[in-house]
Amino acid sequence: MAVELAEQAPETIVIKPLAMTIGAEVSGVDLSKPLPGQQVGELRAAFLRWKVLFFRNQPLDHAQQVAFSRQFGECTPAHAVYGHQDDAFPEVYSIDRDRRNKRYKGEDLLHPWSGWHADITPAINPPAISILRGDKMPPYGGDTQFSDMVAAYNALSPNMKEIVDGLRGIHRYQGNAGVNVSKEYVETLNKNLIISEHPLVRVHPETGEKALYVSPSFLETIVGFTPTESEAMLAMLKTHAARPDFNVRFKWDDHALAMWDNRQVLHLGPKDIVASEFDREIHRTTLMGDIPVGPDGRQSTPIEGNPIKPVN
Ligand code: SIN
Repeated sequence: MAVELAEQAPETIVIKPLAMTIGAEVSGVDLSKPLPGQQVGELRAAFLRWKVLFFRNQPLDHAQQVAFSRQFGECTPAHAVYGHQDDAFPEVYSIDRDRRNKRYKGEDLLHPWSGWHADITPAINPPAISILRGDKMPPYGGDTQFSDMVAAYNALSPNMKEIVDGLRGIHRYQGNAGVNVSKEYVETLNKNLIISEHPLVRVHPETGEKALYVSPSFLETIVGFTPTESEAMLAMLKTHAARPDFNVRFKWDDHALAMWDNRQVLHLGPKDIVASEFDREIHRTTLMGDIPVGPDGRQSTPIEGNPIKPVN
């Protein structure tokens, strides 16, 4: 695939890769208006190749973010477990550093951002794409990291690839609560339980590439393994998936936007922000994804919860 690199004419979309296999910063595009079909095509090609795209100076409101998102697929509801905050925008999930304490009055909630994960992998049809708009970001810190799961798979030995190609795992949504959590928060989790069995290696539906499908915050056990085997194998795979050589790190500023492919990328929200004096307000939309398929052609199987449905 031809990639337009930074030296090309400024009026065309400019794609500036940030790491060898993951992450590119895009300029020369205004996301607040409908994009010409050709630009949508160029962005989609760059997105599949670089797995996460970053845009700066895009002061969008909710309506513009939803409109931008819809050019790349159908929007899912804001969050499969927590729902939405603004009835006018059921597609938009807003996150700030006090979000759980504000919504659930929790006494001991750990922090608003999970560990390494791909979005909502406990669903049978997890969102394919996530689009995150940074509205009010700290002057420093509060970075988001991304990890390339195709590179992670490719870095395994041939023997380990053969083993993981045939494995499946159980993904469960269990929140990221502390010890003395509010009753309301626990009830929300229990009412919206979602659990699925997915292959440990996913064949990307658009590129055909194999990606390690290990979503550390949600992947609990490996099917057919003893608890000891499962724990040891998952410890190895989760550490491997987050290895710095597969990562790109994004330094935000106000009105930046990140768009990533949950089918081939993990992400990690910041922890440093919680103890800081700074706000950090972001708004996420997610786009419908399909049911994962493993290298053996087998689809994932649902265990609890309903498939995600698009917002019309
Ligand atoms: C997320 O985990 O979906 C958000 C990541 C971030 O806030 O940087």
